[in-house]
Amino acid sequence: MSAVRVGIHDLSVATAGHVLALDDLAAYDGTDPAKYRVGLGQEQMSVPGPDEDIVTMGAAAALPILHTHGADGIRTLFFATESGVDQSKSAGVFVHELLGLPATCRVVELKQACYSATAALQAAAGLVARNPAEKVLVIASDVARYELDSAAEATQGAGAVAMLVTADPALAEIEPVSGVHTADVDDFWRPNDSVNAVVDGKLSIVAYLDGVIGAWEDFRARGGAPLGEIDRFCHHQPFTRMAVKAHRRLAEHEGVALDEELLAVTTGYNRRIGNSYTASLYLALAALIDADDDLAGRRIGMFSYGSGSVTELFTLVVQPGYRAHTRGAETERALAARTPLDIARYRELHAATHLDSHADLQTAHESSGPFRFTGLTGRARRYARTDA
Ligand code: HMG
Repeated sequence: MSAVRVGIHDLSVATAGHVLALDDLAAYDGTDPAKYRVGLGQEQMSVPGPDEDIVTMGAAAALPILHTHGADGIRTLFFATESGVDQSKSAGVFVHELLGLPATCRVVELKQACYSATAALQAAAGLVARNPAEKVLVIASDVARYELDSAAEATQGAGAVAMLVTADPALAEIEPVSGVHTADVDDFWRPNDSVNAVVDGKLSIVAYLDGVIGAWEDFRARGGAPLGEIDRFCHHQPFTRMAVKAHRRLAEHEGVALDEELLAVTTGYNRRIGNSYTASLYLALAALIDADDDLAGRRIGMFSYGSGSVTELFTLVVQPGYRAHTRGAETERALAARTPLDIARYRELHAATHLDSHADLQTAHESSGPFRFTGLTGRARRYARTDA
């Protein structure tokens, strides 16, 4: 019996409805704008309005996939996030309802900082390998939020990616070898009583780079492809310069020169969206396949990092004909549709993040996206589809 080829059949991106230019943040906080543009490699950050969150972005990312392929065969929805909206209920259950998915579907939320979308993708691949008639919808959606006026503030962002995992994928096959690495590190976390992440920025960079080497060594020990047989790399991008740091560390470790120029194309969305935690690595992949028309048959190394920390390196092989299935124009439209924020409104939105669930709430209708967080009643979150 020949092995089933499993991978990403479709991939779609969504982001929040507002955008802050980092030049404006730099002017406000008295920073040289080059620090953000060049030092961090960031130009803008997406900012959610009062009626947007990980659920509305995740559902918006998945909607075009359902328009194209329908819901037939989808028996699992994995929702990966580290900015969950409830301690018990999966954000995926809200999305399941908003998208009208069949009741015969398992739904679960996965958490391990920015890493969990990769765990979801691997679990999805396992389910499809076991039963190639099944499809799995993987959604990664996050709002990255730090304290105002902190060093991390410029690395905030918000975005979502949805992926349909199937047999005989149209975009990219997931190869079976994977390298993994876990180390208990207090580099970044979010206590239950905080809407903002707590971070030791310098330590987080060290932990990330240690994870890259740990996962790489495991990958190689398990028969993963040598560097010379990996044509492109996508790295988790908390800020896009981090991809260069990761690449340099890998090159130093292996004692070879790696082409950093090839990374530039993977930063196209993350530079403008900011950190989207679980979605960030897959935004790098989206940017790559949307911009590069010479990837058929090429192997892509995917480095996933989640603070705390877990790292995984796995590889994809891009499929012939993938260009016909990319969604770059849709992503550019979503980016262009964002409403620019001035600093005052951005800070107001940031401060309004914490909601007291004891008080019923109706949110202002600001979002122009297909789904809205409409408010709270009886301490439960309510959502609506706005384009139906
Ligand atoms: P900082 O300490 O204020 O910045 O905050 P810095 O002084 O280190 O400067 C940053 C870079 O800009 C440096 O470049 C400077 O030289 C350069 P580097 O030396 O690193 O190559 N720079 C300039 N460049 C040009 N012109 C100038 C200029 N000035 C300075 N005028 C820090 C930076 C990343 C620490 C902060 O933003 C932060 O804490 N961010 C949040 C944490 C983070 O993103 N960590 C990344 C690794 S951990 C991770 O990826 C996981 C995460 O996504 C969460 C999860 O997994 O759940 C965060």
